[in-house]
Amino acid sequence: MAIVLEDVSKTYEVNGRKVEALKKLSLSISDGEIFGIIGFSGAGKSTLLRLINLLEHPSSGRVSVNGTELNSLSGQDLRNKRQKIGMIFQQFNLIESKTVYQNIEFVLKASKYDKKKVKGRIEELLALVGLSDKADSYPGNLSGGQKQRVGIARALANHPEVLLCDEATSALDPDTTKTILKLLKRINKELGITIVLITHEMEVIKEIADRVGVMTAGEIVESDDVYSIFSHPKHAVTKGFVQDIYDFIIPAHIEINERSEVITIKFLNENAEANYVNQLYRHFDCDISILNGRIEYIHDMPLGFLMLHVKGDIEEITRLKIFIDESNGIERAEIHAETV
Ligand SMILES: Nc1ncnc2c1ncn2[C@@H]1O[C@H](COP(=O)(O)OP(=O)(O)OP(=O)(O)O)[C@@H](O)[C@H]1O
Ligand SMILES: [Mg+2]
Repeated sequence: MAIVLEDVSKTYEVNGRKVEALKKLSLSISDGEIFGIIGFSGAGKSTLLRLINLLEHPSSGRVSVNGTELNSLSGQDLRNKRQKIGMIFQQFNLIESKTVYQNIEFVLKASKYDKKKVKGRIEELLALVGLSDKADSYPGNLSGGQKQRVGIARALANHPEVLLCDEATSALDPDTTKTILKLLKRINKELGITIVLITHEMEVIKEIADRVGVMTAGEIVESDDVYSIFSHPKHAVTKGFVQDIYDFIIPAHIEINERSEVITIKFLNENAEANYVNQLYRHFDCDISILNGRIEYIHDMPLGFLMLHVKGDIEEITRLKIFIDESNGIERAEIHAETV
């Protein structure tokens, strides 16, 4: 396990009042994965990253990165370890008075990087992030996406094992966000760097994370692989974050009674692309019409929804519902109660 937090608490004191930013939080992030943490403002996300980054110590509990417990480090060991953890920020945090080249050079000098290798390293980093032609530009003349690329180059300068991203795309438009997330994914795959990414946007999680932890009030209330979180959210906060894909509205003119029901079916994995409705038509003496439908692709894996209006005898509708419930990889989605 690359990053392990055990029973970590962090309490701040503000004007004599205690603020519990993290409450006995435990979390394991594997070597080489992209782990996303989603939560609303004030959930404690940045606090969590600052503990992994060694910028702060937990009030209690343990944090270890690649087997080294961070509390035990001091002096040079601490500085060495810190260099192995890169970080990027929403506001990029570049030095405005230095060029792109000098911004990267600055961190290499601070870490006493082999002087003979500095120039080569900077060129390598600029090529990696696609900014070889911007070496002499100042941050003020770059777009948001380009600034974040400089931020990434700088964070990777000292060959880190872990890259922490604090709302790294929140200041960017959706298209630029996608290109930055693609770059992060490539860095993860090609360099094998573990990425911990915090965000308040489920779109970002869907695009890039392998696993996700949902955070609220200093706790991780649910964590799983991204597909499971989207297909079977359990905690109310998680349901809120994935609500968008479950948002089907029953048309107002549809009458609902014992002989006329709206049933929304959820198709998991490859079942989303199978010809299931055909079976329903064939097996049941019901009048079935399609009201709405959608397939989401999460890491290329389909998650499908189909909203049907079913009319017929109550016994027949009941049989149809039992058939759905007994079908593999197909479920009735609990949508209407939540959205109407
Ligand atoms: N240095 C600090 N001193 C006092 N309180 C703090 C400090 N840092 C964070 N907090 C408090 O801890 C809680 C968690 O803050 P944190 O910044 O970790 O949240 P967050 O999830 O990153 O929020 P956001 O999405 O707004 O960035 C908040 O109540 C915040 O006010
Ligand atoms: Mg924050």
